[in-house]
Amino acid sequence: MKIGIDKIGFATSHLYVDMAELAKARNEEPNKYLIGLGQQKMAVIPPSQDIVTMACTAAEKILTPEDKNKIGLVVFGTESGIDNSKSAAMYLVDLLGLAENLRAFEIKQACYGATAGIAMARGYLALHPDKKALVIGADIARYGLKTSGEATQGGGAVALLMASDPAILALEPKTAYYAKNVMDFWRPLGHTEALVEGKYSAQIYLDFFNQVYLDYLQQTNLSLSDFNAFIFHLPYTKMGLKALRTIISDTEPEIADNLKKQFEASREYNRNVGNLYTGSLYLSLLSLLQNSSNLTAGQRIGLFSYGSGAQGEFFTGILQDGFEDFVNNDNVSTMLAKRHRVSVTDYEHIYRQSLKNKDELIIDYKSDRAPFVLTGIKNSQRQYLHQ
Ligand code: CAA
Repeated sequence: MKIGIDKIGFATSHLYVDMAELAKARNEEPNKYLIGLGQQKMAVIPPSQDIVTMACTAAEKILTPEDKNKIGLVVFGTESGIDNSKSAAMYLVDLLGLAENLRAFEIKQACYGATAGIAMARGYLALHPDKKALVIGADIARYGLKTSGEATQGGGAVALLMASDPAILALEPKTAYYAKNVMDFWRPLGHTEALVEGKYSAQIYLDFFNQVYLDYLQQTNLSLSDFNAFIFHLPYTKMGLKALRTIISDTEPEIADNLKKQFEASREYNRNVGNLYTGSLYLSLLSLLQNSSNLTAGQRIGLFSYGSGAQGEFFTGILQDGFEDFVNNDNVSTMLAKRHRVSVTDYEHIYRQSLKNKDELIIDYKSDRAPFVLTGIKNSQRQYLHQ
């Protein structure tokens, strides 16, 4: 039985900061951010948006009433949790009006959460092929202002509808994973910003990629020429390019050229949004599907998921007949082009409006036209609105 990704939805905020402007404000060469990190624009998340509102917007774009009735599992992957006990999934179930005979919960392993959700969804759908599962990857990437991590922030949500006989990508059964306790990136309880050993984290990412990629090749006897594209978790898009370079350096030029072109298509959206932690790999998948001119049904895509701390996984999927019909409905480029640019000063102002430890708050959401907004906090309870 085929199991995989049936639909993909994406949402981010309506605001962004231009990376060349941010570089100037930080006394850096713009090309350090534009080329060295591979980032052009960075999503700025206002107080009226959080992981729940962005996840609901992403999911609402793809779910029909029939899908909603069939969903029996909701897994909300995030490392930007809004509560220490209650999962973000419960707000989402309510705001989307999902049928209540389901399992819904939140999971965390840094940027690996959505991939863990996919693994669970595969098991669930194998037992219940007539049902569907909703997997969310939603985060707001935050480092300190004026730190070296600052240029690798961003935020957004990806909603993946998983099903048997999927319309887009059928996941292949073999997968390679690797877990090891490392301190490359973490966010202690009470901290609103991540702590990171930047260069070390990049090295661990590459080590994990090479480990799981080789393991996968050994398990399957496949080789580089069996893949039409590789996509990566993209904390900044140069990171994926570095990983790709490690496996194409001594291959035939035509194969390497195709994989480089596919990578360019797969990083287009991420370079204009920034890091969205656990949703990042799946935004890159959407970017590949909507921006590549060289994809056909039956081709194999390799996916590398990485969550600091650290967990890596390499797995693969086969593009399904008619996949184009399902990915071109909601073109992300159009949505990104409609966003408003904010100045560096305004971005810093928004950044400082942390909601942490607020029991009562009224949020001015009037300029935010997203379908789901956070309007405030009352009695320590977040107030959401579907407008
Ligand atoms: N023109 C072109 N390129 C330039 C340039 C210029 N004028 N100036 C500098 N560069 C290049 C540098 O050569 C470098 O490229 P290479 O890495 O290929 O050598 C690149 O720009 C970045 O320069 P630096 O390494 O000097 O940058 P930095 O030290 O200020 O910070 C960083 C870079 C370590 C990635 C930092 O942004 C950071 O800590 N980010 C957060 C951590 C992170 O994203 N880690 C990734 C792996 S962990 C993960 O994947 C999980 C996750 O989501 C966080």
